[in-house]
Amino acid sequence: MRHPYLIRLNEKEDWLDWRRDESLDGGVVEEAHDILLPEGKNQMYEFNDSYWYGKANYHEHTTGWETFFVWDGRIEVTVRGKRTYMDSGDVLCLPPWDPHQMNNANDPMTVWNGLYHGMGLISNQSNWNMIQRTNPEMVGDPEIRANYLGNKNNWIRENPVYAVDVPKEEIREIRTYDNPLALYTLPGLELRQFTGRWENDGLSEVWLADMKQGVKVNYRKYNPQADLFYVIAGEVRFCVAGEEFVAGERCVVKIPHYAPRSFEAISDARMYDMGGATHWMDLLEDMTSLKMLSPDKYADKAYVAGVAKRQECYLAKVEYNGEVIFENEG
Ligand SMILES: [Fe+2]
Repeated sequence: MRHPYLIRLNEKEDWLDWRRDESLDGGVVEEAHDILLPEGKNQMYEFNDSYWYGKANYHEHTTGWETFFVWDGRIEVTVRGKRTYMDSGDVLCLPPWDPHQMNNANDPMTVWNGLYHGMGLISNQSNWNMIQRTNPEMVGDPEIRANYLGNKNNWIRENPVYAVDVPKEEIREIRTYDNPLALYTLPGLELRQFTGRWENDGLSEVWLADMKQGVKVNYRKYNPQADLFYVIAGEVRFCVAGEEFVAGERCVVKIPHYAPRSFEAISDARMYDMGGATHWMDLLEDMTSLKMLSPDKYADKAYVAGVAKRQECYLAKVEYNGEVIFENEG
């Protein structure tokens, strides 16, 4: 049975479902593993794991925000007529109307993850899979295929696409470990911003935390936020609603609204915060402004608590080897 909070991407028993998508000539395009279904009116937290063998059409979405995380391999991507390669650790952020194509460039496949909101991708793919089984001649109809299940969300562009080869730094949608949107260095902790709220319909942002062993994070007792974490290196021990468990490499942790939570890096660890409810960029900028320009306010615990509340931060305390890095007593 699937753990209530911990999802191991490499374990088939933790997948909700899986399917192979084939091209018209029968080649495997993708083996997709469904990990999390979308939630709520904004269809948040949809997440999948993909073994990508093939090539997508050049397309864009009329609605839906896609963030891709390359885990292993190499993928050729074309975005707005520019073509480059993405490698392990690279992230691609695609708002609606941003045209893109992906083409596997690794033998035999590239492993990557997709995080979506406002999209409903998994139900769309399951439906397509059902049509393939029950109505195969419809799948062969180019017009039906172009409309992709009759869902106009996929806006197919001219294929093949003419593209100019560029270094990946020239495609602004690509974020790399060495070139994040923002970087904050704290004791025991480095925080890298990979996507921003301005490119996620104001709903989320993605950060990567590099934690030294011994970093401890405690949250306030009443926390209305859901959290979504993805450990890509090392081990993190979580306590969620009284249940303790360890999330290792390739583990996703989904924490429901109001569940009490804390975690500790029990080795050096690298983990994405993908839930994006807290306005981390604003909070880290505001705390820096206070520290640099308004030291009296920075030392005023009630004032800091007000800033944290404004940025929807429910942290209580962050510590590294006993040193308090952040405290929110509000
Ligand atoms: Fe897409």
